Amino acid sequence: MHQLIKWQKSMSVHVSELDDQHKEMISIINNLYLVLKEDADARRIQDIVSQLQTYEKCHFEAEEALMVHCGYPGLEEHKAMHAVMQKKMAEFKTGLENGDVLPLVKLLPFLVEYLHDHIIKQDGKFAEFLRRHKSCAKQLPDKFPEKST
Ligand SMILES: [Fe+2]
Ligand SMILES: [Fe+2]
Repeated sequence: MHQLIKWQKSMSVHVSELDDQHKEMISIINNLYLVLKEDADARRIQDIVSQLQTYEKCHFEAEEALMVHCGYPGLEEHKAMHAVMQKKMAEFKTGLENGDVLPLVKLLPFLVEYLHDHIIKQDGKFAEFLRRHKSCAKQLPDKFPEKST
């Protein structure tokens, strides 16, 4: 199977639940890439974009819950980046629903850039913080979602 993005060790934030969620997001994006290559109908594309949007929301909430739990000083800045991402996704989704082709051209590069930039740099900063506060990530907060299957 051709993949657009491959999860790499350098993406690890050293919390297996968060790593699993990042892997799942990568897998949805790779799926979207395949579907786009197949020239699938708009409905299928919209379904995957919706799936990604829902999954992302859940992941962002989990990540932010852990940041609150661990007293991460970069929480507000990180939350703002998540909010921008969600807003962009909502815009893409609305564009697709309106039959606008442009979102498709922009969507994948945006997602790839997000993954590299956000997971490696921004989530990476949090991972660095966790490395210095090891004990807090051992006990995850109550509202931390179950691992996806
Ligand atoms: Fe993340
Ligand atoms: Fe994040």
